[in-house]
Amino acid sequence: MCGIVGYVGEKEAAPLLVEGLKKLEYRGYDSAGMATISEKKVLIEKDVGKIEEVDKKVNFKSMKGKIGLAHSRWATHGDVTKENAHPHTSMKEDISIVHNGIIENFADIKKKVGKEGHTFSSDTDTEAIVHLIAAHHEGNLKEAVLKALNELEGAYALGIISSKEPHTLIAARNESPLIIGVGEGENFIASDVPAILEHTKKIIYLDNGEIGVLTKDNVDIFDLEGNKVEKKIHTIEWTVEKAEKGGFDHFMLKEIFEQPSVISETVEGRISEDSIDLNGKTGFTSEEMKRIKRIIIVACGTSWHAGLVGEFMIEELAKIPVEVEYASEFRYRDPIVEKGTLIIAISQSGETADTLAAIRHAKKKGAKILSIVNVKGSSIARESDIVLYTKAGPEIGVASTKAFTTQLIMLYLMTVEIGHVLGHTNDQQVKNRIRDLRLLPLQIQSMLDERKNVHTLAKKFIEKAHALYLGRGINFPIALEGALKLKEVSYVHAEGYPAAEMKHGPIALIDKNMPVVVIATKDDRTYKKVLSNIQEVKARGGIVIAIASKGDRDIKKCVDYILPVPQNSYILTPLLAVVPLQLFAYYVAVLRKHDPDKPKNLAKSVTVE
Ligand code: M6R
Repeated sequence: MCGIVGYVGEKEAAPLLVEGLKKLEYRGYDSAGMATISEKKVLIEKDVGKIEEVDKKVNFKSMKGKIGLAHSRWATHGDVTKENAHPHTSMKEDISIVHNGIIENFADIKKKVGKEGHTFSSDTDTEAIVHLIAAHHEGNLKEAVLKALNELEGAYALGIISSKEPHTLIAARNESPLIIGVGEGENFIASDVPAILEHTKKIIYLDNGEIGVLTKDNVDIFDLEGNKVEKKIHTIEWTVEKAEKGGFDHFMLKEIFEQPSVISETVEGRISEDSIDLNGKTGFTSEEMKRIKRIIIVACGTSWHAGLVGEFMIEELAKIPVEVEYASEFRYRDPIVEKGTLIIAISQSGETADTLAAIRHAKKKGAKILSIVNVKGSSIARESDIVLYTKAGPEIGVASTKAFTTQLIMLYLMTVEIGHVLGHTNDQQVKNRIRDLRLLPLQIQSMLDERKNVHTLAKKFIEKAHALYLGRGINFPIALEGALKLKEVSYVHAEGYPAAEMKHGPIALIDKNMPVVVIATKDDRTYKKVLSNIQEVKARGGIVIAIASKGDRDIKKCVDYILPVPQNSYILTPLLAVVPLQLFAYYVAVLRKHDPDKPKNLAKSVTVE
């Protein structure tokens, strides 16, 4: 939720930290701050607001020092105030820390160090940590940190510096993501790769219960007993350009536009003209597939919507029963996990706390875990038995777009392959499915080229306070996703509903002020039924925007506006229907003068419960 970046090296830390922090702003943006060490003193600047606003006030780059920490906050404990912004410091102002996570026993720690004379200047849980480290400090920072960590309960990613050891940067992790970037004559810590990608592609993933001790030339990792741990250095494939806006006004728009290419990248190396290969490095073998008797998909938000589409695909083509669960609910239930139950976790970030807890819960019950994840080496990926990586590249916009479409692609590949292995799809059908898939990038591109129509339509709806999204069958989750996109970036209240359910309640809301977005692509299953649902809306004066198949003349007669999508097989229509809905939400947000990349109250990775 919060973003952390830290540096130790030969360069001035502040310019580098502020640039890194901007790349992490998607994680939280209510306050920002920085600490450096210069002339054996800890310097701190922090305030309320987005990084650029805070920077204008305090001029981060004027802070001297070749070691430092920076933080963008997403408040959990304590209001959004300057005092509660990070970094926090010890009373002697010699130790400074930044934190992402929640310390559950902070009240006990506060009481304990309070008795020893420590006074607090913020309402945060974080400040308890720095006082605890100070209380244990007897000349060795690492030892003091280890002692403090052994008393902490809860989640943390921490960056710690001290003017007493001005060349050492300490990182610590439990449940909140933190990586170490290994450079030449410099080393980094960060909550996520984009913050340091410009400087190094060599990454060490800290595991829970590990601390990193970094100097400019060295990185050592220890467990909480102080034993040295050998860690692998991974090389990241993402490029700097992929984490930049690249000429677009917002990351969200850039990421919507990247969909044709990231779909191609996700299938690259996994399909030939007539076959799908998911085995490769992932180990998702035919034998594994044959063992599956039942699937439970766990995910949150947009990834949960991908799971609902997956349910439809898998039951239809692979004939395996599927349930889709909110990870946040699943983790507190007593689910039945029998032999042959496969848990599929879907997550862009691979760090969503609820999804991570759900897979741990299922693992305890003996389930096998397969995850569909975008961020390499993330916690969910590391804790899964099988990982299918989507290749969406860094997704910076808080609203998930390209990650969603690549999740659908991965579910599709998986479904077709399982269906083939289990004998429900023959060789020719596999070939046809691959052919359909290959059409997608160009079809999506053609819709992006027509974006002006969506922009024009968005202009007509910027004053509306509510919207209803309807879909049926495999496109019902797309109605949910369209509504979520509109809600989160433009703050318009929107609800997604199965079209036929409308008459059981929501129809009461329909009048001339209610825009109703209906996914009504042509197919031989529900199309005619959806047309009837549209008539029901029109009969009550509702305004209908139809996501309809290109060239559909029938629908023209009964709706107010059409956003056309190209035709493909029914099972792939969600990948097409979602694109105009993403664009619509984006344009409504921008026209209402909101920043779609940083919707209020939201954070990109939800690493707390
Ligand atoms: O990283 P994850 O896919 O696990 O994230 C899950 C949700 O937090 C995420 O999809 C969220 O709903 C997005 N803001 C939706 O655009």
